[in-house]
Amino acid sequence: MKLPTLDIGSLKIKYPIVLGAMGVGVTRSGLAAAVTNAGGLGVMSGVNLGFDELDFMDNTLEANLRALRNEIRKAKEMTKGGAIGINFMVAMNMYAEHVREAVKEGIDFIVSGAGIPSELPALVKGSSTKIAPIISSSKGARLIAKLWDRNHNIAPDAVVLEGVKAGGHLGFSKDDIINENYDIFKTISEIKFILKPYEEKYQKKIPLIVAGGIYSGEDIANVLKAGGDGVQMATRFVATEECDAHERYKQAYIDAVKDDVKIIISPVGLPGRAVQNPFLKKVNAHNPPKIKKCVNCLKTCDIKTTPFCISQALVNAVSGNIDEGLIFSGENVYKVKEMSTVPEIFKDLLTELEKL
Ligand SMILES: Cc1cc2nc3c(=O)[nH]c(=O)nc-3n(C[C@H](O)[C@H](O)[C@H](O)COP(=O)(O)O)c2cc1C
Repeated sequence: MKLPTLDIGSLKIKYPIVLGAMGVGVTRSGLAAAVTNAGGLGVMSGVNLGFDELDFMDNTLEANLRALRNEIRKAKEMTKGGAIGINFMVAMNMYAEHVREAVKEGIDFIVSGAGIPSELPALVKGSSTKIAPIISSSKGARLIAKLWDRNHNIAPDAVVLEGVKAGGHLGFSKDDIINENYDIFKTISEIKFILKPYEEKYQKKIPLIVAGGIYSGEDIANVLKAGGDGVQMATRFVATEECDAHERYKQAYIDAVKDDVKIIISPVGLPGRAVQNPFLKKVNAHNPPKIKKCVNCLKTCDIKTTPFCISQALVNAVSGNIDEGLIFSGENVYKVKEMSTVPEIFKDLLTELEKL
């Protein structure tokens, strides 16, 4: 099978493979640039990007915005001006400030989920930045397409559909996640149908990018055959030399077996998928680590009631303090068997696809 390009308006991506943003700090400029250089679209996570800045705990917004500028500049340098995206969760505090700063730095693509990105079109207005919501169902696609049409007179430049096998936060109930009748291919055709009138009205194609459990060339082919225009992959790219996480984080992926994959309820207010470890066991035993200091990162989190500090837990994990950290992962983490590189993964995927 020959892969089509992924065209997000004027952004022409050679292969329809988008890097799924992974926060905190797992997808920064290193991994995003490597995916863009390999012919895909590299997307960084914009959540607490300044976690390793010296003033992060006291001056969180300034530290995050400074790191945001630096990471975009680095990614642009490493790709010689190639296309780079960034993901901001709607549930983040200071969402608008982050979006505006990224636009000022010339970011090419902004993806937003974990809430309804109702104001995103207004925040990027007048720029060439392309925008895409992340949704988990056809209902979500209908809602956002209608909202952006009515309030902003635009249609999304792309839509990311994230299914139940994804890593990190999931837009499903715990019951939905274990529902064996869930069929992402059915949702793909429903969403294509919903987007059609908006494509006609705004005279543009709205590519549908499908995420969650996409691991092999065959998975990519199945999405394309079902009408998807591209895929978003995260878990597969973690155990790579270019990934921005600590080596121990990557090793945790390589060591994970199927039974290690657990669902937790995160302070964001959504279920999340992660690898079993001493931290998760403590949380589940209602004995989470004490919160050192709140940096007020989430609109949906209250320090008085939250079961644990997700920022602290994710920063611990990405920095190598694995046993005290939250290791988010997709359902297919157990398929990761060894360290690799981004070009090697692209080569394997393309070889597999050619044989199909
Ligand atoms: C470690 C990790 C962190 C993630 N963090 C985010 C995030 O900050 N924002 C977001 O929208 N999605 C996040 N995701 C979801 C991914 O971007 C992606 O859509 C999903 O994991 C795709 O499924 P896959 O991992 O099976 O390829 C995360 C996923 C992982 C594995």
